[in-house]
Amino acid sequence: MISEKMAEAINEQINAEMYSGYLYLSMAVDFAEKNLDGFEHWLRLQAQEELDHGMRFLDYLQERGGHVELETIEKPEVEWKTPLEAFEYVYQHECKVTGMINDLVDLAEKENDRATMNMLQWFVDEQVEEEDSADEIVQKLKMVGDNPSALLMMNEKMAQRPVSEENTE
Ligand code: FEO
Repeated sequence: MISEKMAEAINEQINAEMYSGYLYLSMAVDFAEKNLDGFEHWLRLQAQEELDHGMRFLDYLQERGGHVELETIEKPEVEWKTPLEAFEYVYQHECKVTGMINDLVDLAEKENDRATMNMLQWFVDEQVEEEDSADEIVQKLKMVGDNPSALLMMNEKMAQRPVSEENTE
């Protein structure tokens, strides 16, 4: 059975992942209101991925006999001035989540909880991807600058994000 300390930390992570989903959904709505439906599409898929991350932690905690306790989800921001500002926010947020995952790994090591360490490895790898994809979008938006036609082209590209296997699991 999982330790109480570990269970408590995983419960906090469930909340953080659900919050990430809420944050990206809020951002998707903001893009929709600005008629950038490709960005909206990308963020809706991202929001779904985050909810799936939360469920992955929840399922694991249940499987290990830990008590799941869902807490209040904080209200996310509702508006970003520019697409660049929004995706810089995504990148910073993902770096923060990486730090949280690393803290969970540290705790699992301290608790000598091999199963949790093993489960967390998936998230360690996932965070590499999450940071990389957010950073790539930030860099592209910097190249777009104030050029509306370049932004519309990028919007078209963002609309092509496929539903990942993770989304269909
Ligand atoms: Fe669940 Fe974007 O990390």
